[in-house]
Amino acid sequence: MIPISVPLLDEEEKQAVLEVIDSGWLAQGPRVAAFEQAFAEFCGTRYAIATSSGTTALQTAVLALGIGRGDEVITSPFTFIASANAVLFAGAKPVFVDIDERTYNVDPGVIEAAITPRTRAILPVHLFGHPCDIEAMLEIAARHGLAVVEDACQAHGATVKGRKVGTFGVGCFSFYPTKNITTAEGGIITTDDPEIADRSRLLRNHGQRERYYHESIGYNFRMTEIQAAIGLAQLHKIEQFTEARRANAAYLTPRLKGVVTPYQSPSCRHVYHQYVIRVPAGRDELAEHLKQRGIATGIYYPVPVHKQVAYQRLGYADHLPVAEKVSREVLSLPVHPALTHQDLDRIVEGVNSR
Ligand SMILES: Cc1ncc(COP(=O)(O)O)c(C=O)c1O
Repeated sequence: MIPISVPLLDEEEKQAVLEVIDSGWLAQGPRVAAFEQAFAEFCGTRYAIATSSGTTALQTAVLALGIGRGDEVITSPFTFIASANAVLFAGAKPVFVDIDERTYNVDPGVIEAAITPRTRAILPVHLFGHPCDIEAMLEIAARHGLAVVEDACQAHGATVKGRKVGTFGVGCFSFYPTKNITTAEGGIITTDDPEIADRSRLLRNHGQRERYYHESIGYNFRMTEIQAAIGLAQLHKIEQFTEARRANAAYLTPRLKGVVTPYQSPSCRHVYHQYVIRVPAGRDELAEHLKQRGIATGIYYPVPVHKQVAYQRLGYADHLPVAEKVSREVLSLPVHPALTHQDLDRIVEGVNSR
């Protein structure tokens, strides 16, 4: 079976993990600090604050902005549920707006109609590795005095006019094993704002600047030395991984017939966390057809967040037609760096032979 994703770890990661074990320092320490510095350099931000996951990075970012009870945050309904849950965890309300049918990201044209006196931030997602229209979001945010949190959990290294995502607002990344680089579990916040960085560091470590002196109420959202050691090794390879994903996508796109292939804005660098096609009729049949041929696929996401049972229970009754339509049509094909040319030809043959 050609898998939909594979974590790519080799001797470098193995050696790095063994060194941590031998050092006897397992919880957050010098390797986490080195990983933060390396990731900040990679993105081009002054600060990076490592966390235990992408979810806790998002929660920390929202809390560090001072968002809480009674506040609203505008976000995407077409994403992994953690983007919206992070807002709930802070005690605030996620407000969903519909998406752009080409990029699957929040449509900036519908944001202003959702702004109320309670709105504090916009939390767009750079879904599947394609940047959202962040410049339009920043402009709206500036006009209404809102903060911007970028959910860049799927978009390490993606750019808009050459500038990396995660540098426009407060950036949040995930290092879950399916992501473009991994630390097993892990996340990171990127920012140029020293106050957001400081509050994030306090929030992730029980509000302590000095051990056992707690100046605010915080959490244990720390990254371990083992995770950071893996992350440092992965960062050495991120460009190579990204270029392999982009080359695989460039091979697939002109060859696939009868499906809608991924859009790439000319001003953006798509990092193809997922290679998402749309199949307006017969999506599930195509997935089955590919499975029979030994090709795994994924549906990200079959149910938009506002339609999830958990959100219906919270009283959400929005109708967001584009998000609902694309969730019925999307299908992710393998695009990861471990694919061979033979694999790519099998994928092309599989899709075109249905
Ligand atoms: C768009 C998006 N947001 C948030 C998350 C949460 O990240 P994590 O799984 O590391 O908590 C993920 C990944 O799972 C994601 O894809």
